[in-house]
Amino acid sequence: VIETVRWKDGRVAILDQRRLPDERRVLACESVEEVAEAIETLAVRGAPAIGIAAAYGVALAARLAGGEPRPFQSRAIREASERLGATRPTAVNLGWALSRMRRAHDALGESDPATVERVLLEEADRILEEDLEASRRMAEAGSVLVPDGARVLTHCNTGGLATGGLGTALSLVTRAHATGRKVSVLVDETRPLLQGSRLTAWELTEAGVPHRVLVDAAAAWAIARGLVDLVVIGADRVARNGDTANKVGSYGVALAARAHAIPFYVVAPASSFDPSLASGSAIPIEERSGREVTRVGERRVAPEGATAFNPAFDVTPGELVAAFVTEAGIFRPPYDFTAERLAGGGGP
Ligand code: MRU
Repeated sequence: VIETVRWKDGRVAILDQRRLPDERRVLACESVEEVAEAIETLAVRGAPAIGIAAAYGVALAARLAGGEPRPFQSRAIREASERLGATRPTAVNLGWALSRMRRAHDALGESDPATVERVLLEEADRILEEDLEASRRMAEAGSVLVPDGARVLTHCNTGGLATGGLGTALSLVTRAHATGRKVSVLVDETRPLLQGSRLTAWELTEAGVPHRVLVDAAAAWAIARGLVDLVVIGADRVARNGDTANKVGSYGVALAARAHAIPFYVVAPASSFDPSLASGSAIPIEERSGREVTRVGERRVAPEGATAFNPAFDVTPGELVAAFVTEAGIFRPPYDFTAERLAGGGGP
């Protein structure tokens, strides 16, 4: 288990992913603003991990205002929730975690500030625990999709780093490896921020899973050449019809997978689904600074003054997804992800 986000000594401890793989450093966030900036700058990233960080951010607000009269504490909690909710728009886990914290807070009514502090921390701990449990179940349910000898392609990072510590799509692969299956992975580099080469390759190295990094533009050709048996990715937000927002580049991989008749699987916990949206067209897509494109790290790779288009996500139509794996099992098309269906369970 990778300790991506934890509560330590009254602070929110965040493993700083901007420094990986070179340096393993933990940010001890002492204010809500520090947590918000950690999310915005991708010190913590990946849909489930963002939700967990935001939940602890709210618990931190309750604690920092624990010595104040109740109305002040309530206001601090509301303001924290608004600030954290405005950090990144696409991953629905963020709003999902914040609304859980809001419900927990609302249920407390006139309770004293110390109780509010305790209960909100317990709720954030529960969100983390449930995420770890969801990861275990997804790895178990999805293991049939990764047979012995499988050559897998993945995009972005969906391992322990993207979650409470165990991962979504990547956990299918690491589990298959751990149970003795021979598997190998082609890791999309994932420009501009290199979550694939920096983070996924690091996790696979630690787990001892054979892998090769490729530039994103090589993925379609790798599939066309018959080097890939299946694709697994995660999700930032899945609409009711299965349209899936995930790291930009996922859609292109899905098109190539369909063109060459290999399965494209999405692995994500129920907290990444948004049944309130009928389709993906209503999913807000984050656009980030063009500097992420015109530079690699600090080094400029475009002419001075060049402008860039930098959507952080794209939407893959549900019809390109062969199956979804959630903690409730495997879902096959046609997709209609209502809250009841997600809770009720998929198939084996
Ligand atoms: O911008 P990021 O790094 O937060 O984007 C992350 C992704 O797109 C992941 O694939 C997604 O959150 C699923 S993580 C289990």
